[in-house]
Amino acid sequence: MTETHPAVPRAGVALTAIGVAVIRAAESARPDRLYDDPFARLFVDAARRAYDHVDRGAERWARLEQVAEMFFEGRTVGVRLVDDRVAEAIEQGIRQIVLIGAGLDTRAFRMPLPADVRVFEIDLPELFAFKEPVLAAAQAVPRCERVVLATDLREDWAKLLGEYGFRPELPTHWVDEGVLGYLTHEYALHVVTTLTELSAPGSRFGVSRFAVDENARPYAELKRLVRGDEGVDRRTGLGADARTWLDEHGWRTEFHSWDDMVAAFGRPVALHDPEIGVVVAVREP
Ligand SMILES: C[S@@+](CC[C@H](N)C(=O)[O-])C[C@H]1O[C@@H](n2cnc3c(N)ncnc32)[C@H](O)[C@@H]1O
Repeated sequence: MTETHPAVPRAGVALTAIGVAVIRAAESARPDRLYDDPFARLFVDAARRAYDHVDRGAERWARLEQVAEMFFEGRTVGVRLVDDRVAEAIEQGIRQIVLIGAGLDTRAFRMPLPADVRVFEIDLPELFAFKEPVLAAAQAVPRCERVVLATDLREDWAKLLGEYGFRPELPTHWVDEGVLGYLTHEYALHVVTTLTELSAPGSRFGVSRFAVDENARPYAELKRLVRGDEGVDRRTGLGADARTWLDEHGWRTEFHSWDDMVAAFGRPVALHDPEIGVVVAVREP
């Protein structure tokens, strides 16, 4: 048996999580790092080793690293912004966090979260088949309660969440860090409708508004990596009218422009477009 982690995702959406781990590992190695994720390097090394044993592994790995590099600057600042928003929610007294499309996120391990926080991680079974053995081998211990839900967001994940101890009467901080864009518009809307139904007053949710040209090179490469060379063109994610939808469904929203949010970090990521940023939503009583 030469493969250390034969379950490493090699194609499809779960693969994108490895790309983000490559980004977090690179950030964590910088002297001016915006956050430190020591587990990112472990995931990257395990994935890299496993790719040595798959067909055209070296070539595929090189492509993955190339795409990660293209997205590095903006995406890594995005991780820090989500960290800050999680810390803010904790400060406000929220103790229930749900990461939808959690990928190789390790906030339950690396952030100084109080022990009474409960973090639910939702992602596909194939993702956790890779993630959990790497964490176990590192004897990683979460700082709070961590609940793993290996399921598909296109299925009845709300029921599963309930069975695993989610409490809808408590305010929740929901994190979408790049999953809704991989779902068709109908499924993305279904996910947000579901989390809206599960959100007690004071719950929080952020929706990115990125006016991206999907045909620009980084996005075209990413699509090819995930969907194969043929690609599939369908409307995905929540779309430009997400804020209106949230306003109409019991959320109070504010818009924060990307340039304002990233100004303090001193990284070359300004986009000079006041329409790009994040809609921050708080569930009304
Ligand atoms: C770009 S990655 C982001 C991962 C993580 N949020 C991060 O920032 O590192 C997208 C994640 O969404 C997950 N995903 C995509 N479609 C999904 C689905 N239908 N159900 C559950 N997870 C899904 C993928 O497995 C992947 O981990």
